[in-house]
Amino acid sequence: MRVVGQRLIDIPNKIYKKLYSLNMRRSGEMQNTLRELRLSANKNAFIHYILEDNKLMGWTMAVKVKSWYRDISDNYLEGYFNHFYVRKHKRKNGYGEALLNAAHQYSARKEKNCIVSNWDSVSSSFFHNTAEKFGLKLVYRDVLSFDWKNI
Ligand SMILES: CC(C)(COP(=O)(O)OP(=O)(O)OC[C@H]1O[C@@H](n2cnc3c(N)ncnc32)[C@H](O)[C@@H]1OP(=O)(O)O)[C@@H](O)C(=O)NCCC(=O)NCCS
Repeated sequence: MRVVGQRLIDIPNKIYKKLYSLNMRRSGEMQNTLRELRLSANKNAFIHYILEDNKLMGWTMAVKVKSWYRDISDNYLEGYFNHFYVRKHKRKNGYGEALLNAAHQYSARKEKNCIVSNWDSVSSSFFHNTAEKFGLKLVYRDVLSFDWKNI
């Protein structure tokens, strides 16, 4: 399984169209955020994606945020907020885990936390179980966050 990482501004149009179409659309924020960041040529948005036979299996988008969220010690977190989406009938095959691993490593290289939102029971067990599997430390208050120092 090959995870490709690219800045959003460098993503070719044909891939951008696939990203735009594969997400929760109006039920989530991923599509709107993607469009706004692409239109504004944001340099701090980073995408990881997995293609198989030219079909998009899943992707994640990291967006740099400053002091929006607090950790368990009440410190404000600077880091990359990450959205994830895996194609419905391809779930539970490890794509999410591969994307999360890539997103965490990207944040850690920048010495920042990888911030995620566990907004339902599936995403919550996905983030907690993956953290446990990879030995990543979760620090959180408002949202979950993977400590970059613990890789
Ligand atoms: C959350 C999501 C990205 C997980 O992707 P995935 O490719 O299915 O995840 P993986 O196959 O890598 O699963 C990794 C671990 O997460 C946990 N997990 C994944 N799906 C789960 C489910 N439906 N119920 C319980 N645990 C689950 C498991 O512990 C799993 O490990 P295991 O298979 O060894 O038990 C995917 O379900 C998705 O796109 N959901 C809709 C969008 C969303 O909620 N995004 C996250 C918030 S931004």
